[in-house]
Order: sequence, then C-alpha cells, then structure tokens
Amino acid sequence: MERKDFIKRSFALCGLALIPAGVMESCSKKSNTSGPSNVNFTLDLTNAANNALNTIGGSLVVNGVIVIKTAGGSFSALSAACTHEGCEVNYNTGSSMVVCPCHGGTFNATTGSVLGGPPPSALTKYTVTQSGNILTVKS
Ligand code: FES
Repeated sequence: MERKDFIKRSFALCGLALIPAGVMESCSKKSNTSGPSNVNFTLDLTNAANNALNTIGGSLVVNGVIVIKTAGGSFSALSAACTHEGCEVNYNTGSSMVVCPCHGGTFNATTGSVLGGPPPSALTKYTVTQSGNILTVKS
C-alpha cells in the first residue's frame, strides 16, 4: 500500500469513528414492539374523550393499545406499536385494516395478524368486553 492510500484509508476510518453511536444504531435499532403487558383498563363510552368508539371505524390509543370499533361494529384491541420499528399504528376505515404510517405495514384489525409490508409479527391482541357503556380491555 502506498503512503497516499494509507493516509486516505486512515482518514476514512477516523471519520467512521467520529460518527455518533446513535447514528450508527439507527439502522438496526430495535424498539419494544411486543406491546404492553398486564393490560387492564376500562373506557366509559359516555365520556367525551372516548367518543370515537361510538362510531363504526372509530379508534383511539390508550396505554399503548389501539381500541377499534371495527367495520362489523365489534370492538378490537391491539398493541399500538408496529412490530417492525415501533411506529404507532392507526385504523383505516376504508380498508378496514390497521396500518402503519412509517413503512406501510398492514394488520388484520381483529386478530392483529400481518397482512402486508415489513412487520415481522402480529400485533398483540387484547380482550375487550362490554358491559353497558363500559369497555374493559385486558391482556
Ligand atoms: S414501523 Fe411499521 S412498517 Fe415499519
């Protein structure tokens, strides 16, 4: 190796060493995409904050869980963090799918299973029961 090449390569390596660790990690960053555990909360459908759930296609995110009133009129609760890189998913009324805005991942709104895109696994599904105007969401 000539001296000129050695100097060029040395500077290139030094440049890599100066890149902040956070930048290098961003390509392989793994976020917590398994969804919250020990979920146990209630939603009062008469509370204005939960009004979205009184309409078919409505949804809201509470405690890391997306609660959906699906096209069929039933309730579904899934982890709100995409299993790909953790972006918050939302419900698309037109397609009746849960979609991830980051890279286009799609999930079944009832089961959480992957329908398309890069997500490696299903969203965690939680149980939803209704008693009058109260929804209970549990692991
Ligand atoms: S983070 Fe959801 S598809 Fe990439």
